[in-house]
Amino acid sequence: MADFLTIAGMPRQDLIRLLAATKRNVPIAEGRSPHRTTLNGKVIANLFFEDSTRTRCSFETAVHRLGGQVFNLTPSGSSMSKGESLVDTARNIECMGVAAIVVRCAVSGGAKMVADGVKCPVINAGDGRHEHPTQAILDVSTLIEEFGSVEGRTVAIVGDITNSRVARSVTHALSTLGANVRLVGPPTLVSKAFERITQGPGTVSVMSNLDSALAGIDAVIMLRVQFERAAGGAVSSDYRQLFGLTAQRVARLAPHVIVLHPGPMNRGIEIDDHVADDPQRSRILRQVTHGVAARMAVLEMVLGAAWDSGTNSGLGAGLGAGLDDRVEVQA
Ligand code: NCD
Repeated sequence: MADFLTIAGMPRQDLIRLLAATKRNVPIAEGRSPHRTTLNGKVIANLFFEDSTRTRCSFETAVHRLGGQVFNLTPSGSSMSKGESLVDTARNIECMGVAAIVVRCAVSGGAKMVADGVKCPVINAGDGRHEHPTQAILDVSTLIEEFGSVEGRTVAIVGDITNSRVARSVTHALSTLGANVRLVGPPTLVSKAFERITQGPGTVSVMSNLDSALAGIDAVIMLRVQFERAAGGAVSSDYRQLFGLTAQRVARLAPHVIVLHPGPMNRGIEIDDHVADDPQRSRILRQVTHGVAARMAVLEMVLGAAWDSGTNSGLGAGLGAGLDDRVEVQA
């Protein structure tokens, strides 16, 4: 049984298989197709030691859509408030016979610590500033639904890059699939060192002028400033003017350009109301649906629950030129 902890180092073929499974799950996530029963009789533990709305609820929904059961543990109601460690907590939960543990924590690398401490599969639902791999799958899946393929596309990721596990995971995924990534933010929130995180063949560049970075893009992913990770001191009072996706900036974008945001949004800071709610450009709520589909795929993958069965009949179909022609899947 496998863990799912990072996108860094993930082979392109594995990423493509997961995206293909995610695509297949979208109608179930929308409630249009009947749910599956691959997790029948299995209990999944959601250990969320940091706040969450979308990630936690979509993992829960994904388990339900696969016929399994799920429970949640949060720090305020647990013995972590009495000083019990993350790994001790996870070990105790494992002894209750859970099939997998989904963990979110403030410690970068905390998901790996848990995975090293238990035998059951562990899924990283966001660990500190490190990675948020299921978010990357859902973001790329949303982009593929729009464009057919991300190969050769240019995606700007804007905001608090330094503190963003989303930016790290998405950049790894996009560069692996041949997209070009522009990481944009004030120099205090994005360092040139990020240019080295490309897995190729796509490129990664760091930019600090938003208007130049938006020229010629296909999509923009906006991020919030992570004040809980002490990023506030690195932000000046003209942040919105310099790095906000304002209605005026969006009006200058080509008609096909779409806007994503992992949430939670700070409206009026990194994104204007008009942009967040723009039915032509905003895919922010669509991302949430893909989040359920992606988490279903990841749960089935780590549990070996026939997650890519049916691939011989074309699971990869429709992922678009540059992707589906390279999908090789063993039954
Ligand atoms: C992100 C997270 O928690 O890393 N949100 C999410 O999972 N949808 C981004 C954030 O908190 O800003």
